[in-house]
Amino acid sequence: MADSWAELKKECQQCRGCALWETRTHVVFGTGWENAEILLIGEGPGQHEDEQGVPFVGRAGELLDDMLEMIGLDRTKVYIANVVKCRPPQNRDPLNVEQDACMGFLRRQTALLRPRIIVCLGRIAAKAIIKADFRITAEHGQWFTRSGVQMTAIYHPAALLRDPAKRPETFVDLKSIQAKVQEICTRTELKRDW
Ligand code: URA
Repeated sequence: MADSWAELKKECQQCRGCALWETRTHVVFGTGWENAEILLIGEGPGQHEDEQGVPFVGRAGELLDDMLEMIGLDRTKVYIANVVKCRPPQNRDPLNVEQDACMGFLRRQTALLRPRIIVCLGRIAAKAIIKADFRITAEHGQWFTRSGVQMTAIYHPAALLRDPAKRPETFVDLKSIQAKVQEICTRTELKRDW
């Protein structure tokens, strides 16, 4: 039977595929337009996301919203998901075993969405999605093609909060994403006041 967003979400919310279910408050499935051409992938929920069940709602999320606005986008025009759907304790990096256990959900989200562009937010997502030896400092902003999908990675918004010196490079990467959206997306209207 064909997959559906409702079925996938239900399965994900009941998941006990790794130990993270024991400490979660909410599963953070993902949010946005289920017909989006652009998929943003973060690493995993933090404290605020775990409390609310929504990705990127803390300070990093506010910065992500500002970054989207800079290129004429917002949460209604993209889909936002994470590599792992449950919060790793103390915000540690998700373990490989946790990423592996959760990857089926992201694969199925991607299959339902069929995005034209995937933007990895930070090193963990880039390594999980683009290539295992991805080096974020050297390769952010570069474009890769996997199964006809254009993929890139930018610094994680939390890294930009810790180190504002990375922001100018990220602005260049965001403009490159904007140009790619204009080039290959057909259903995504960018706001014109940028
Ligand atoms: N950081 C992430 O990678 N994902 C979130 O949802 C929030 C913070």
